[in-house]
Amino acid sequence: MCGIVGYHGPRQATDVLLGGLARLEYRGYDSAGIAVIGDYGIALLRRTGKLHHLAEAVSASPVTGTVGIGHTRWATHGRPTEENAHPHADCTGAIAVVHNGIIENYLDLREELAATGHVLRSETDTETVAHLVESYYEGDLAAAVARAVKRLHGSYAIAVVHAGEPGTIVAARQDSPLVIGLGKGETIIASDIPVLLDYTREVLVLEDGDVACVTAAGVVVRGADGAVREPERIHVEWDLAAAEKCGYETFMLKEIHEQPTAIRETLRGRMGADGIIQVSELAMSEAQIAAIDRVLIIACGTSYHAGIVAKTLIEQWARVPVEVDVSSEFRYRDPIIDAATLVVAITQSGETADTLAGVREARKNGAKAFAITNVVGSRITRESDGVIYTHAGPEIGVAATKTFTAQIAAITVLALKIAQARGALEQTRIASIWDEVSRLPETVEAVLCSADDIEACAREYTDVVSSLFLGRGIGVAVAMEGALKLKEISYVHAEAYPAGEMKHGPIALITDEVPVVVVATQGRTYEKVVSNIQEVRARGARVIAVATHGDDEIRKHAEHVLYVPRTSEEVSAIPATIPLQLLAYHIAALRGCNVDQPRNLAKSVTVE
Ligand code: AGP
Repeated sequence: MCGIVGYHGPRQATDVLLGGLARLEYRGYDSAGIAVIGDYGIALLRRTGKLHHLAEAVSASPVTGTVGIGHTRWATHGRPTEENAHPHADCTGAIAVVHNGIIENYLDLREELAATGHVLRSETDTETVAHLVESYYEGDLAAAVARAVKRLHGSYAIAVVHAGEPGTIVAARQDSPLVIGLGKGETIIASDIPVLLDYTREVLVLEDGDVACVTAAGVVVRGADGAVREPERIHVEWDLAAAEKCGYETFMLKEIHEQPTAIRETLRGRMGADGIIQVSELAMSEAQIAAIDRVLIIACGTSYHAGIVAKTLIEQWARVPVEVDVSSEFRYRDPIIDAATLVVAITQSGETADTLAGVREARKNGAKAFAITNVVGSRITRESDGVIYTHAGPEIGVAATKTFTAQIAAITVLALKIAQARGALEQTRIASIWDEVSRLPETVEAVLCSADDIEACAREYTDVVSSLFLGRGIGVAVAMEGALKLKEISYVHAEAYPAGEMKHGPIALITDEVPVVVVATQGRTYEKVVSNIQEVRARGARVIAVATHGDDEIRKHAEHVLYVPRTSEEVSAIPATIPLQLLAYHIAALRGCNVDQPRNLAKSVTVE
């Protein structure tokens, strides 16, 4: 929810820190701050609000120094004020700390520290870390940090500097993302990989409990047991452009247009020359896969909607019962799980706290838990029995788009794999489904070509206050995702319903001021969907229908028809979602909303 960055090298730290914070601002933008070490000691600058306020302060009173740390905040403990902004200092002002995560036992620590004379100035949990380090400091910052983090309960990624050790940054992590970039003669610490791409592709991934000491001599990592260890080193393929907008007005629009590539990369190498679906990450024999008697999917938000699509595909193709649960409920409902249950956790960031806790719960009960995620080195990859990566590249826009369709692509592969292992589908059927699936990137490109029509449609709905989204079968998940996109970026109230549910209450909401968006692509319930459209139109609703190319009938029943290429029903979720992403996007953009950084939201929800 917050973003932290650290720099150690020959460059002016302020430039690197501000550049890094700009790439992290999507994680939280309540306040920002830096601490830079120079011959004068520590210069600490903090400002509330967007990063540019801090940048203005830095240019008003420049600070020199080549070692420093920075932070962009999404408030959890303490209001978005300057006092609560990071970095936080100790009593002497010699120690500065930036932190992402939540220290659950901070109130006890505050009491203990205050009782020993420490003066805590902010409402935050983080400030306790600065004073704890101070209380353990005996001339060795790494040792003091290692002792301090042992006292912390909860999640943290921290970076710490001390005026008395101008050439040192100490970083540590527990349940919160932290990576270290190894450049030529310089080291960058960050919450997220895009920050590093300006300087290097060589990345160290810290484990939970690790404490890393960065000096001119390099990086020394000690594990939770205090022993020096070699952290995992990965080479990141992502190019810098991936982190930039590539000429689109927003990251979200760029990411919507990146979906053909995201899907193509996610499907790459998944069909063997022998016609066998490749999901080696499952590390399960065909017999073990065939023995799965139940699939349990856990996720949050958009990923949960991908889970609902998974239920339809796995049940229809593999004939295995599937349950889908929001992680925040699953983790506390004492779920019935056993070794024959396959648990699939879907999370693009790989850092969503509820989904992580859900995986722990599942494994505690003896189930195998697999993750579908988009972020290499993310927490979920360490907590799961296996990981299927979506290869969508970094997603900067808070509203998930390309990671959603990439998740559905990965789920389609998983569903086909289970079906194949169970012999639930003829090989010829699998081949024909795969043929259609592997043409999805082109199908999506075709939908993106009609983006202008969608923008024209959006222009007529910029002043709506409330809307309904309807679908049947696989269209229900698409309707739910369309409603979520509109809600989270345009702040228009939107509810999604299985169309057959309308008569049982929601139809009471229908007036000519409540547009109804209907997923009406060809499928076994198409006729039923059309009669549901007639029901709402009879009450004066304006209808926007997502329909299949060649369907002229639907024109009689809708004010606007957003066409998508013909596909089978099972493969229709991805193409049918794109028009709803663009509809929400254009309504939000036309309403002047900050589409990439919607209010009250953050890209990954790392707390409960
Ligand atoms: C979707 O646009 C939102 N950003 C949000 O609902 C998101 O899907 C949810 O927080 C889950 O995130 P995850 O996939 O990273 O776990």
